[in-house]
Amino acid sequence: MEEKVKAIIQKYGSDRGFLVPILQDVQKEFNYLPREAINVISSSFGIPLSRLFAVATFYKAFSLTPRGRHQISLCVGTACHVRQAPIIGDHLERTLKLKPGDTSSDLEYTYETVNCVGACALGPILMVNGEYHGQITIAKTNKILKKLGKKVEFDE
Ligand code: FES
Repeated sequence: MEEKVKAIIQKYGSDRGFLVPILQDVQKEFNYLPREAINVISSSFGIPLSRLFAVATFYKAFSLTPRGRHQISLCVGTACHVRQAPIIGDHLERTLKLKPGDTSSDLEYTYETVNCVGACALGPILMVNGEYHGQITIAKTNKILKKLGKKVEFDE
């Protein structure tokens, strides 16, 4: 891990001004910010760990705990809520066997709920690995999950 993190730092010319892009690349590489990676960045730049953790917790895009290879986010904002998002949410919880905020033990899936993502007219919205899926139904959800390799037991 240390080598990979050092290579990322070098990519930015070891310039501490690029701290956020460096953290973004580390997050992309490991799907989260491992403690060991934070230590390498801290010692490379002489930045206190407390400052790095402050940055990592400030930006929602960073995670200090392992995240799944596939990120599944259901919008539960008002417009999506009234368009049956809770039913999709129940289905996702049952199928993935995860509660919002959880990651599967095989690190395949992270499931979370989010508030309005700005596409209310197309609600309910499901985001999978950054891609928006509008007017989501249980059938559409199952199709997406199957594409990701998830066995779906509960069809409509
Ligand atoms: S409430 Fe879901 S996109 Fe706005």
